[in-house]
Amino acid sequence: MRALGIETSCDETGVAVCDSEGGLLAHALHSQVDVHVEYGGVVPELASRDHIRKVLPLVMEVLRQAGLELADLDGIAYTAGPGLIGALLVGGSVARSLAYALEIPAVPIHHLEGHLLAPMLETRRPDFPFVALLVSGGHTMLVVVRGVGRYECLGETRDDAAGEAFDKTAKLLGLPYPGGAALAALAERGRPGRYEFPRPLLDQPGLDFSFSGLKTAVLYAARAAPDDEQTRADLARGFEDAVVETLAVKSLRALEHTGLERLVVAGGVGANQRLRARLAADGASLGAQIYFPRPAFCTDNGAMIAYAGAQRLAAGQTDEAVIRARARWPVASVEPPAGLAVEEQR
Ligand code: KG4
Ligand code: ZN
Repeated sequence: MRALGIETSCDETGVAVCDSEGGLLAHALHSQVDVHVEYGGVVPELASRDHIRKVLPLVMEVLRQAGLELADLDGIAYTAGPGLIGALLVGGSVARSLAYALEIPAVPIHHLEGHLLAPMLETRRPDFPFVALLVSGGHTMLVVVRGVGRYECLGETRDDAAGEAFDKTAKLLGLPYPGGAALAALAERGRPGRYEFPRPLLDQPGLDFSFSGLKTAVLYAARAAPDDEQTRADLARGFEDAVVETLAVKSLRALEHTGLERLVVAGGVGANQRLRARLAADGASLGAQIYFPRPAFCTDNGAMIAYAGAQRLAAGQTDEAVIRARARWPVASVEPPAGLAVEEQR
């Protein structure tokens, strides 16, 4: 099953072709950072318009890269939510129209399912079931992944997502949108320990997160601090250390709680090098296996949607001739494709 995947849920147009047997054949991404940077965040209408401009050229580019024609596709997968509704409608309309013209099926994919299955794009890939730490701009969750479409939420953020906390803290330190990666780069020059920020909810049992207080703590510290480059770097380092420790401790707690020994880190914040290093070290000391998608497949991309789609289409999933788009869509309500054999190893 050769599936085209189209991701347009936010500010990245991602397109890829994935074979359910042969893996990823080609992928391409266009980032809208240049479009939104002057506004300090994503402007939904501009995002939709830019997706319209880029999605078809990217489809043609991945087909060329893979040495395929449109007629070689067996099905199309598109992100149907959660996300910006106008942006989702662009990908959904293009996917559905192409599928209609080519007389092949199109299936809607949950954006977070894409993130959760992204580690399957790598050569070293986890068996099911595994625990996933899903940390993106809009979500922070610990999820048990038992198979395609079998997701159980163990805990989630009560307020800001980890990526959102990175972005807001970056903004208050004067860094341009999107702030996460820029804040991590600034933190590299920071000294650990000069600022000790709270580790929210770590002293309480359970697997929920809370990041809005941490952002406020950085704001107050920044107001009281001298305005120099080293201090900004030290603040960034203090913030990053607090987030990384919180995420790592809760992830290990989730492994203990479930008795599982495989942990996957997914979503944009999973690209954070300090988080990856900390989890790799903690995992090794616990005897757990830690899996990371490559950084480009942690952040939004078409490959993860093409992968999820190829699995679902290969299991025989189809859909009516409608365009599906949902701004909100809980991941726990996603269902497995009816025809997929339950595959679970310990
Ligand atoms: O998964 P993603 O690309 O989009 C969403 O579905 O939200 O995640 C984007 C988030 C942003 O908040 C961004 O600042 C954050 O991931 N991010 C990072 C890093 N790279 C991206 N946060 C921390 N360190 C990074 N290196
Ligand atoms: Zn995402």
